[in-house]
Amino acid sequence: MHALTALFYALETQPEIPVATAQRILFLRAQAHPDLEALKDRLTCEQTWKPHASGLENQGIRHTREAEGKYDLILLLPDRQRESIMSDFAQAHELLAEGGTLVTALHNDWGAKRMEQQLAEVTGEVRTLSKNHSRVFWTTKTGPWKTETLSQWKANGAMQRILDGRFWSQPGLFNWDQIDEGSALLIEHLPHSLSGTVADLGSSWGFLSDHVLRKCPNIRSLDMYEADARALECARRNTGLIPVPVRPRILWKDVTQGVGNACYDSIVMNPPFHDGREANAMLGLKFITVAAQALRTSGHLWLVANKHLPYENLMKEAFEHQSTVAETRSFKILHGTHPTLVTRQVRKKPRR
Ligand SMILES: C[S@@+](CC[C@H](N)C(=O)[O-])C[C@H]1O[C@@H](n2cnc3c(N)ncnc32)[C@H](O)[C@@H]1O
Repeated sequence: MHALTALFYALETQPEIPVATAQRILFLRAQAHPDLEALKDRLTCEQTWKPHASGLENQGIRHTREAEGKYDLILLLPDRQRESIMSDFAQAHELLAEGGTLVTALHNDWGAKRMEQQLAEVTGEVRTLSKNHSRVFWTTKTGPWKTETLSQWKANGAMQRILDGRFWSQPGLFNWDQIDEGSALLIEHLPHSLSGTVADLGSSWGFLSDHVLRKCPNIRSLDMYEADARALECARRNTGLIPVPVRPRILWKDVTQGVGNACYDSIVMNPPFHDGREANAMLGLKFITVAAQALRTSGHLWLVANKHLPYENLMKEAFEHQSTVAETRSFKILHGTHPTLVTRQVRKKPRR
């Protein structure tokens, strides 16, 4: 929110930023803001994070997952991950018309100063202002930017193979180039007898799903839910070649908004507990609630959480039987069965 506010402050106060005259404006990693209303007719918004995309929709602003064309003004509100930010600069360069202006807003804690320096090395001059613990910096595509460096940044931020080629992933995704320690612990405790309809909530590039597909021969279907659209193609590639009859459905969804009428025999998850910059245990609690409501009467929830997260009370409330299956210094594996949150206990098996 800080960087977003700072961005619109810069648009309002810096006459060099051609917001009034630009014919075509692109907002990369766009988020809803009241001032977008006035730009609507000239604006394209790109957003791959589902909750932000929904925020734009609620404001009546159309968005895309992949912008095309050329723009006179590009606004950029990057993620926190370094390679992802630099790859956004490279993408902005490609989409910027000759003479166009790129305006970036970044929170100081996300390396704003360093990123500004990196951009200045490529473009020559960068103007800047500080506001709301953030930096807003802008530059114009007049002279040639250092295209070799930009190509390198683009390649570094692209989808790529990780872990000796075992998986596809992309910078910016959760723990993008490693297996999460918690998820590794969870798969040690997941029974191979999982069967029927299964969901993986917050599936990212698909580590837990990969395990379920390979080790649980009795599953009939697998739904992978993820808010970050960049993970979807990675997940498709990672699960696509596994030699099993089940082809997962890979869904771009905000799990906190529920999973509709879907109904599962088992759910596995390593729920998120960060919302942007802030730790937020409510997210995990919401995931548990959604899971309990989506499980059949005899369904099972298997989850891993950092040890300090306060999930046990809700697990007791949401399941008739719940237990802590394993604990290490940092993580715990929780299991719940026979959900009690659902009011309609009789659920039809979905037609597939
Ligand atoms: C702790 S990571 C676990 C990733 C993966 N399942 C694993 O085990 O490596 C949590 C995942 O939830 C996703 N996520 C966060 N908020 C979400 C939301 N509201 N809806 C759906 N997915 C979300 C994140 O993008 C991230 O991929």
